[in-house]
Order: sequence, then structure tokens, then C-alpha cells
Amino acid sequence: MSQPIEDTEITSATLQHAEAISAKIDAAIKRDPSEFRVLTGDRPTGNLHLGHYFGSLRNRVKLQREGVETWLVIADFQVITDRDGTGPIKERVHSLATDYIAVGIDPDKAVIFPHSQVPGLNELMLPFLSVVTDAELRRNPTVKAELEATNGRPMSGLMLTYPVHQAADILFCKANVVPVGKDQLPHLEQARVIADRFEARYGHPAGQDHPVFPRPQALLSEAPSILGLDGTKMSKSKGNTIEIGMSADETAKRIKKAVTDSDRHITYDPEHRPEVSNLVLLTALASDRDPVEVAEEIGDGGAGTLKKVATEAINEHMAPIRARRAELEADPSYVDGVIRRGIERANEQANATLHEVLESLQMSY
Ligand code: TRP
Repeated sequence: MSQPIEDTEITSATLQHAEAISAKIDAAIKRDPSEFRVLTGDRPTGNLHLGHYFGSLRNRVKLQREGVETWLVIADFQVITDRDGTGPIKERVHSLATDYIAVGIDPDKAVIFPHSQVPGLNELMLPFLSVVTDAELRRNPTVKAELEATNGRPMSGLMLTYPVHQAADILFCKANVVPVGKDQLPHLEQARVIADRFEARYGHPAGQDHPVFPRPQALLSEAPSILGLDGTKMSKSKGNTIEIGMSADETAKRIKKAVTDSDRHITYDPEHRPEVSNLVLLTALASDRDPVEVAEEIGDGGAGTLKKVATEAINEHMAPIRARRAELEADPSYVDGVIRRGIERANEQANATLHEVLESLQMSY
């Protein structure tokens, strides 16, 4: 009994539905955080920047401080979905974990782990693949968009099936909440379909009265998306980012070179003035203010004043995070220890889940 997965164009109806669920979860977390387990994560492809920080990391820290158990997957296998090599992967994994801790994730409570080190998680891929069809994977809009971004690269088997692997990231630890951006909604839908179909086909062997997997829901973060300093998408490869770990000087230099426009009067108008509005927004986020107010205050001060104000606000906001980051970098064995403990806890959990899964499949001998 398998329901067909919807053609998952991210329509505004889909988005509205996801936003409504997201708001409900938000309220439920405030009532009782102990009912939730969050899993989310990142690919270790480069240094994290302010887009990640204001778009998702800050929200993860907030959730953890509200008392939600937090699991962070460092998705190292996802690096090779569309690349020929892994690059300086070890350093990047370490740097990602360092960023997490520097921005305020509590390493004593969170489970931070690279999924390559968790065989039980990876093994879930096999039964999960049995409940999906190649047609539904091929129409996954996120996979399509990522393939298009590779400029003519053929679809690898891993690229096609990585939403299934990502479902394993989420389901192995029975996470029920996944804070993500809207680009990841199709993956969450796929993970729910996998949980449901697994239950329908293999669930309820003798003695088991609850589903093996919960249905994970997306928690959409409110933070608006942030552009790069040239007004295009902020991207590690374009040199248009401000990285979390950058120095104050480097930040000032990057902002000085940021693209603006010729209108001296500063306004917050993301649609018509994306570059200027982006700097206004970053300033507002960094100083916890309203962007319209920030723009009004600068008024006729022009791009020069805007850049000065933006630089000050960002550097001030980031100073304690950068100081913490520098401390962590001075003692790499500390972060290594956090990762090692994360791997241990992830393996305990993955082995327990795999055991249940094999029981459901009647494959225990
Ligand atoms: N695909 C996500 C990204 O590129 C990273 C990721 C991997 C993830 N596994 C996950 C996100 C599980 C949420 C849940 O950003």
C-alpha cells in the first residue's frame, strides 16, 4: 500500500501548508520541548557564512536553548553527490563542528557527527531504497535544481538517491523536527513517505505496537534569505560571503567592495534595490533592529554610511563568536573529542534503530 508521492514542485500552497505546520510545531516546542528531537545539518564543502548564521544556525541555537534535544549531522557523503573528490574534507568537518560550537551550540548536549562514521545509519539506505521509485526521485525539485547547477554533469546514482540517504540521517535517530530552508521541503516530504511506506510494508511484526519511525516535519526558519555582497546568491565559491570565522578587518574589506547603487537615499526595498537592502538587512539582523528603521536612520547618508554602519554592526555582533572560535581553534583536540563523542552516540542510536528495522523485516537470525 504505497501512496504516490505528489509532484513536488514547491508551490505556494505547499509552502503555506509547511508554514502552518511549522508554526504549530513552534508553539508545541514552547509548551513541551521534551517531545521533540531535532536533526539538521550541513555539507562540509567550505566555511560557513552569515547566510548560514542568520538563516539557520541562530535558530538551531535558539531551539537548543529552549530545551530541544539537538542532533547535527555533518553530511560528508553528500559532498560527493556532485563532485569528483572530497577536497580537504577532514579540515572542513572539523571547521564545521568548530562553527557550530562557536555560534553557541552546547557541545555537551548536542550530538555532532559525520554520517560516514555511522554504519547503521548508512545501512538504512537499503530497506529505504526498496520503498521509493526512481520516478519520484527524478522529479524531486531539489535534486533537479542541484543537477542543473552542475552544468551538464550526468546524474550520479548517489545524486539521484541522496534524498533517501538524507531520510536515513533524519529517521535513524527518530527525529521529528527538521529545521531547514524551503529548498529542503521536498526531502522532508520524501522522508515522511519513506517512514509511512516502511510502516505499511514492514511494520507491526509481533509485539510492536508503535510505528518504527515518526513522521518528521520541517521547521521553517523565519529569517529572510541573505544575498552575497554582489547581490547574487551568497555562495562560498563566489567570494561574495562574510564567513563566520573571518576577522573584523577582512569583514570591513569585503563590505567596502560590496555592490550598491547610485541612489544616495538609503531605503529598505528588497525587490527594487536588492544590494542596498541586503546590507540594510544584515545590519538589522546583527543589531536586532527593524530594517526599515535602519534605512530611515541612514537616510541621505549614502552607501558610504550604510557600509560603515553595516561593518560596525556585523563586527560587533560577531566579536564574541569569533573570539570563541579562535579559542576552539587553539585547541583542536577539544573539537575532535566532541566529534568522537558524537560518533559514539550516533552509533549507539543507529545500531538500536537498525536492530528494530531488521526485526520488522523479519531478518533476525
Ligand atoms: N542537504 C542539506 C544541505 O545541503 C544537509 C543535510 C544533510 C541535511 N542531511 C540532512 C539537512 C538532514 C537536514 C536533515 O543543506
